[in-house]
Amino acid sequence: MNSEGFQPHTAPVRVWPSRRCPDWLLTRLQTKYLRDPGLRERYETQWIGGKDTPYRERVILRRSPLTSLYLHEFHRSDDPRALHDHPWASVSILLRGALIEILGGDVRADRNGDLVRDTGARNLPVGSMVYRPAGLLHRLVVPQWLRPGESPVSLFLTGPRFRSWGFDCPQGWRHWRDFVDADDTGLIGRGCGEP
Ligand SMILES: [Fe+2]
Repeated sequence: MNSEGFQPHTAPVRVWPSRRCPDWLLTRLQTKYLRDPGLRERYETQWIGGKDTPYRERVILRRSPLTSLYLHEFHRSDDPRALHDHPWASVSILLRGALIEILGGDVRADRNGDLVRDTGARNLPVGSMVYRPAGLLHRLVVPQWLRPGESPVSLFLTGPRFRSWGFDCPQGWRHWRDFVDADDTGLIGRGCGEP
């Protein structure tokens, strides 16, 4: 990394611990959203990354300027090239499968004097309930040990959109339009590479 060009992301954002959704609520949500065969016919679905090989399927249960509710099915991990943040605060509850979350920490100089960002990771088993402030840097990894039919599914509640979102590049924060494919956030764009 170029030690001269690194612009740290905004001030560190608090990582809230993940909590366990109460069993009675998890069971009700799983019944409502995983065992309803007609659910996907009743709501609009977005295939992020293209309909043939989506990396995320988003069922839009509710969408408004103040709050939206999505059902997310994860087919692949988030883009591994950089951590990203979000345009809204959110709460997610994992209804099926498991995820590993990579989290961004402080920026520090490594042995060569280059500035790097510390990262941490946490396991999110089924039933995990996570609050994420909009500026939290993270990426989600789908574990390879999940069996077919266990692709992670989460219920994802967002607050109002109040900022743009992007990626934490060595050169500084980069708007998503300049990182991924502008027409589909699931397709590979130029990433942190130079313009
Ligand atoms: Fe994310």
